[in-house]
Amino acid sequence: MSKSTTIFFCNSCGNEFAKWAGQCPACHEWNTLVEATPFLNTRVTGGKKTTGKPAETFSVNDALTSQKGFTLSTGITEFDRVLGPGITRGGVYLLAGQPGIGKSTLLTQLAISIPEEVYYICSEENPAQVATRIKRLSKKDNKNIHLLNTSVVDNICETIAKNHDSLVIIDSIQSVYTNQNATTPGSPSQIRDSASLLIQTAKEHSVPLIIVGHVTKDGDIAGPKMLEHMVDTVLELSGDRQHLLRLLRTIKNRFGPTDETGIFRMTGNGLEEVKDPGAILLEGRIKNAPGSCLTMIMEGTRPLTIEIQALVVSSPLPIPRRIAKGISTNRLQLICAILTKHLHLPIAEKDVFVNVTGGLDVKDPGADLGIALAIVSSAKELPLPENSICFGELGLLGEIRKVGFGDKMEKEAKALGYSKIFSPSTHTTINSIKLVPTK
Ligand code: TYD
Ligand code: MG
Repeated sequence: MSKSTTIFFCNSCGNEFAKWAGQCPACHEWNTLVEATPFLNTRVTGGKKTTGKPAETFSVNDALTSQKGFTLSTGITEFDRVLGPGITRGGVYLLAGQPGIGKSTLLTQLAISIPEEVYYICSEENPAQVATRIKRLSKKDNKNIHLLNTSVVDNICETIAKNHDSLVIIDSIQSVYTNQNATTPGSPSQIRDSASLLIQTAKEHSVPLIIVGHVTKDGDIAGPKMLEHMVDTVLELSGDRQHLLRLLRTIKNRFGPTDETGIFRMTGNGLEEVKDPGAILLEGRIKNAPGSCLTMIMEGTRPLTIEIQALVVSSPLPIPRRIAKGISTNRLQLICAILTKHLHLPIAEKDVFVNVTGGLDVKDPGADLGIALAIVSSAKELPLPENSICFGELGLLGEIRKVGFGDKMEKEAKALGYSKIFSPSTHTTINSIKLVPTK
């Protein structure tokens, strides 16, 4: 009887099964099993046991010596800040982001700025398109950049093996394929096998590799979750395509910190580093308007001033709306509940809309107080005191809780000239903040 050539592969945990099931028997996620071809090694050997040879071993000192000169600066300050030491040779980086956010632009700029030989695999665009972008972004002749017109992983691996002192960029993992897997490019098993071959080759030859990855509409990296485990560093480029700011963060970093954020602005000349993001975020702000609250949040290790706007209006609906942009709706509902309970704010029959200006996505719990004060200010039609700023996490009991880097934010707020600061050190509960009409 011939052996079955199909297996079922879990997109969430990467385990393989002989039969399909609605729920993954290993990680218990629902609807994550997809049909796939078995992992290539088993197919090549026909499932037979192969004999290996002892692996190369190093003493700690030898391993350290072989690491010398192992990091390359990207030449882009904000990029280096996020990576920590720069690009590590043999390191595999996954850069993920929404379509059109600027992944290819950032990597083109990287190729332009580093002096090393760069092999740019144009599997998504053709070499002429990438070359046009290079010409647009740089007047140099960029002889170090080699554009490869291929989508075949086996050819890319050959290129990596033959060019040791170089950087390889693959744009993107969803559009390359290995001949050892019969499925179409972008399928989970194809991504797994292609990534596995590429990573293996890059590590073997100590070549740094940057792989572009797409994200799904829920914001997760497309393809098997395993991909994130396989690479050394996962970078995320985010922002709102309608706005200029782009944030580069590390979700996972084997070589450096994960708490740094690189801030860029999309311009006609590519991504520009931003030294003062607060100025861009507050551009065009109407001062002393009810519903507007300046808040300080931490972006990596840097304090950032943002504006949170709220609009509270009578609702025509039996269940009033809670609509949020830039924060999660659950968080907005929680804050509305805290305000109803502890301030007796009459918003039960009101629609509440909240927006973070500049297209930022704010996850920092320190923005809770800003969201709450913006809602109170709109509901009471009272602007917040002139020249005021706030930060602090809200507890369910109405208390204002301390947040990480509070001292740093306090110092920054004073340095920026804010005369009134609402924070855990000035107020302990949301009740104790009184908004009074300004004459
Ligand atoms: P791109 O890097 O192609 O996005 P991704 O690879 O993440 O899909 O960039 C897409 C957008 O960036 C595109 O809409 C045009 C814009 N852009 C600029 O505004 N300025 C530039 O200099 C470049 C190269 C692109
Ligand atoms: Mg692209």
